[in-house]
Formats: sequence, structure tokens, C-alpha cells
Amino acid sequence: MPSFSDVTLQTARLTLRPPVLADVDAIFAMRADPVVQRYGSHPPWTDRQTAVEWIERNLRGMAAGEHAQFVLERRTDGVVIGSCTLYALDTQCRRADVGYALVLPEWGQGYANEAVSRMLDWGFDELDLNRVEADIDPRNVPSARALERLGFTREGHLRERWIVAGEVSDSWIYGLLAREWRAARASRAGTHASANAS
Ligand SMILES: CC(C)(COP(=O)(O)OP(=O)(O)OC[C@H]1O[C@@H](n2cnc3c(N)ncnc32)[C@H](O)[C@@H]1OP(=O)(O)O)[C@@H](O)C(=O)NCCC(=O)NCCS
Repeated sequence: MPSFSDVTLQTARLTLRPPVLADVDAIFAMRADPVVQRYGSHPPWTDRQTAVEWIERNLRGMAAGEHAQFVLERRTDGVVIGSCTLYALDTQCRRADVGYALVLPEWGQGYANEAVSRMLDWGFDELDLNRVEADIDPRNVPSARALERLGFTREGHLRERWIVAGEVSDSWIYGLLAREWRAARASRAGTHASANAS
């Protein structure tokens, strides 16, 4: 994969951009929040240095084209309200995993849908991905809803896949294919065109 260091994506309300060290407090606050991290792959962070290392690791990963990690900057006020990622990129199978998180006060406003939709456009169109996967805790209702709203299909239930801070949990595996994404996008565009024409 080419370097992703210069990739910046725009949506109506958000700029998706690579993280910078100045984002450390926003990223730390989000990942230290036990509500945001309730079903995450690691316990809430307790040390700000973890956020510094996360940013440095992601800058290296973006530069090498190993994975894409964006922070979500709200365009009206420049506040970082979340992040989203395409990781575990497999060039042979043209596959990646998706991840996303928002700071708690911004849940329920469609920001994850807006950001991940834009990132999926980029992943399918620019990276030529054929399949994007997600692995979520079945108890993570907002995340399941977000994936289903994006058009992902729940494909499997893996038992006791995670142990985080001693808590064992299952996974629901979701998948979305490029052709499904494009068909849904064309259908949305058609709906908008006919709404505008009428
Ligand atoms: C998963 C997570 C990002 C979902 O956030 P979210 O805000 O619910 O997600 P969406 O962007 O899809 O927003 C949809 C909600 O916003 C509402 N909404 C408001 N305005 C909207 C708009 N303009 N467009 C779309 N939805 C809108 C929808 O009705 C929906 O609410 P509902 O689920 O109560 O019906 C959030 O819960 C989170 O950060 N969780 C912690 C991290 C996490 O678990 N990540 C997943 C692990 S991989």
C-alpha cells in the first residue's frame, strides 16, 4: 500500500485526518472513558503516555501504508470527537478490518455513520478493497446498530474470542463487500436524485 500520511477526507460535518501529537488529550480522554471502552479490546487507558504512543504508532503505520487511522475533527469548531480506522489490511485478499469510536457526548448524532461511510468510500474506491470486516462484542448495541445502518451483514458468532481485564467475551463478525457498498450507494444517489427532481 502507498503511504497514507497525506490522506485527508472531508464529510459534511467532519474532517478525517491523520492524528498529530496535539490530539493527545482528546484521544486520551476518549480512550480513558470507561463507557467508551466498555466493549473495547483493551481496558480504559490510565496513562496519558499510552495516547502519545498510540499517535506515534499510527503515524508510523500511516506512513508505511500498513493501516489507516483517522481522527475525526469537527469542521465548525476544530474539536476532535472520535477516530476511525481501517486496519489488518490484506493486499492479496483486498480485505481490511474497521474500527471507530466517538467521545460519549457526541453519540447519537450520526457522526460515526458519516465518518465511516466516507472512509469506506475511500477504502473501496481508492484502496480497491473487496471486503471490510468488523469484530464487535454482541452486547455492544450501538456498534451493532451502526454497522447494520452502514449495510454490514452479521456473518458469525465466535465464542469466547476476547479476554479483556479478565472478562471473557464473544464476537459477532460482520462483513461488507465492495459490490454491496456500491449498490447501496447507487441506490442512495438514485433516491436523492428522484427526491430532487420531484
Ligand atoms: C459505536 C459508536 C461509534 C456508535 O455511535 P453512534 O453515534 O450511535 O453511531 P452513528 O453515527 O451510526 O449514529 C446513529 C445514531 O445517531 C442518530 N442520528 C442523529 N442524527 C443523525 C444523522 N444525521 N445521521 C445518522 N444518524 C443520526 C441515529 O438515529 C442513531 O441513533 P439510534 O442508534 O439511537 O437510533 C459509539 O457508540 C461509540 O463510540 N462506542 C464506543 C466505541 C465502540 O464500541 N466502538 C466499536 C468497537 S469496534
